[in-house]
Amino acid sequence: FSEKSSQFLKENMNVGKELLKGKMKNPSGSIDELANGCGDIVLLNGEKVAAYRDDQGAIHAVSPICTHLGCDVAFNSAEKSWDCPCHGSRFTIDGDVIEGPAVKPLDRKNEV
Ligand code: FES
Repeated sequence: FSEKSSQFLKENMNVGKELLKGKMKNPSGSIDELANGCGDIVLLNGEKVAAYRDDQGAIHAVSPICTHLGCDVAFNSAEKSWDCPCHGSRFTIDGDVIEGPAVKPLDRKNEV
């Protein structure tokens, strides 16, 4: 390789890395982008968390893994709850069970 082509390769590898980062981040979004009163599954230190920002701006973060059989919960913006698409379990923004079949709360992520 000439000096030029190895420089070209290096630059493209970096672009690839950035794209990959963007991709990993994308469907999940970032905790900083959460507006007050909104919830989403976000990546935090490489881990998926179900994060909700309350009207005071405080983050409530719990595990997104439903304690029934392990599906990912999704934010229900009308009810401000985390709902599981698999069998209908529902959880509060702090992970407590509203409706089964799940009986255990979602794990809290206190380090947020
Ligand atoms: Fe969530 Fe069954 S896995 S309700």
